[in-house]
Amino acid sequence: MTTANVRDYYKLVRRATAELNGEVALEQFSATVIRGIARCMDGAASLLLLDSTGKKLVHSTSWKLPQSYLKKGVLDARKSITEVIKGQPIAIEHVRRSRRLQYREQAIKAGFASILAIPIDIDGCAIGSIRVYLRQQREFTNNEVAFIKTMTGLMSLALERMYRQSGGAELEDKTLPGLAVLADVKKTRFQHPSEEEFASILNFYNIEWVYEPRSFAINWNDDGVTQMFTPDFYLPRFDLYIELTTMKQRSITTKNRKLRRLRHLYPDVKITLLNKKNFEHMLARFGSGPLAESKGHGVGDVLYSAAQIRQRVSELAQRISADYVGKTPLLIGMLRGVLCFMSDLVQNISIPINVDLMSLSSYKSEQGKGVQITKDIGMDIVGKHVIMVEDIVDTGITIEYIVNQLRLRKPRSIKICTLLDKKVRRLADVKLDYVGFEIPDEFVIGYGLDFKEEYRNLPFIGILKSTA
Ligand code: IMP
Ligand code: MG
Repeated sequence: MTTANVRDYYKLVRRATAELNGEVALEQFSATVIRGIARCMDGAASLLLLDSTGKKLVHSTSWKLPQSYLKKGVLDARKSITEVIKGQPIAIEHVRRSRRLQYREQAIKAGFASILAIPIDIDGCAIGSIRVYLRQQREFTNNEVAFIKTMTGLMSLALERMYRQSGGAELEDKTLPGLAVLADVKKTRFQHPSEEEFASILNFYNIEWVYEPRSFAINWNDDGVTQMFTPDFYLPRFDLYIELTTMKQRSITTKNRKLRRLRHLYPDVKITLLNKKNFEHMLARFGSGPLAESKGHGVGDVLYSAAQIRQRVSELAQRISADYVGKTPLLIGMLRGVLCFMSDLVQNISIPINVDLMSLSSYKSEQGKGVQITKDIGMDIVGKHVIMVEDIVDTGITIEYIVNQLRLRKPRSIKICTLLDKKVRRLADVKLDYVGFEIPDEFVIGYGLDFKEEYRNLPFIGILKSTA
C-alpha cells in the first residue's frame, strides 16, 4: 500500500465517521463510503444488500460499475459468493478462474479481473456486503482487507441506527433493501416465543430492553473460560438483567446454580429469574397465556379474610392520617382493582383529604399502541401531596410508569400506598411507602382484584385455583 493510499484511507474513514455522527441520510452515507472505497482502491465498488425475502442481493449503491453489469440479472444470495452471506470475507484474485461468481462472464466482459467481498454483519447475521472490483488482476493485501472491514463496520452501524430510528416496525414499505431483512433478523433472533411476548410487554410500557446483551464468564481453568452465562434481557432503566425460562421446574436447577454463581462472582450485577409460573401469572393479568386459556378456575386458599383486611386497612389509614396532618393529601386510586381497598381506606382516614381515580390501558399482545392513561384525574396536582393507591404492586412497572407521569405535573410529593406487595416479583425499582401485606408469588383474586374481570366482589383475598 502506498503512502498516498494510506492518506486517502484515513481521509475516507474520517469523513464517513463524521457523517455517521451527523444527521446524514443513509443514502448519502452509503454513497460517500462506496465512492470513497472505489477511489482509494482505484476500481469500482458496490453496496449489496439482501432484499426483503432475504434471498436476493441488490446493488443498493455502486460506483464505477457499468450499467451492463448492474443489469446482468438478479443476484441469488445462495449462488453469489455464498461464503460472504455466511459472514466470511472472500477475495477472488482471478475472476477468470473463479467458480464462485454467479455472473462470471458478465464480470469478465465488464473488465474486472479481481474482486473482494466483505460481509456487512449485524448481530452476527450478514445482511449484505461491500464489493470491490479491480480491472488489474492482483492479490488484495491484508491492509486493504482490514480497510474494507472498517468500512463495512461503519456501514452496519449506519444501518443499525436507521433501523432503530424507524422503530423496526414499518420497515416493510421501506425501499432500502437490507433493512427489511434486519427487521426479520431482529424478530427471529428470539429463541423462544415467550421471550418475544415479554419483549412486546416491555415495548407496551415503553421500557427499553436489550436482548442477550452480555455474556458473563462463570467458570474457567488455566486454559480459559469454560462456562458462560448470557441473560436473556437487560433493562437499562432498572439496571436489571432478566433470565426468562419456560422450562419445567426440575430442569431449572442447573440454571439456578448458574445464577447463584453469577451473583457470587458479580455482586454488582442485578439479575432476576422469571420462571414459567411467574410468566404465566404475568400473562394471566392481561387475560392471556396458558392459565387464562385453560378452562375451570375457582378460589383456592384464602390468604386474608375480610376481618384481617379490615384490621390492616384501618392501620394503614391511621398511619396516613398521622403522617399528613395539616396537609390535605390527594389520594389517587388506580382503577379497577383498587375499588374495595380505596373505598375502605378513605373511610378510615380521619384528616381532610381529596380523592380521585385514574386508569391505564391494558396490554394486549396484538395491539400496537403503547400504554396510555385511559381515564385521567380531574384535578391539578401542582404543589399537592399525592398518595398513589394501588391494589397490588407486582413487577412495579405500572406504578413506576404512573409515578413518572405524575411527577411531570409538579406535585409537592408523591408516595405510594398498596394493599398487597408481591415483592419477590419486582422488576422496577420503586419505593413503597405504605404496604398492607407482603404476599407470595401467587395469582390472587377478590377484594377488587380480578381474573378476567371476575371475582372482584369476593370480600376476602384468595389464591386463584386452576381446576382443569
Ligand atoms: P405491576 O405493574 O406488575 O406491578 O402490576 C400491577 C397491576 O397488575 C395491578 O394493579 C393489578 O391490576 C395487576 N395484578 C398484578 N398481580 C395480580 C394478581 O395476582 N391478581 C390480579 N391482578 C394482579
Ligand atoms: Mg391495577
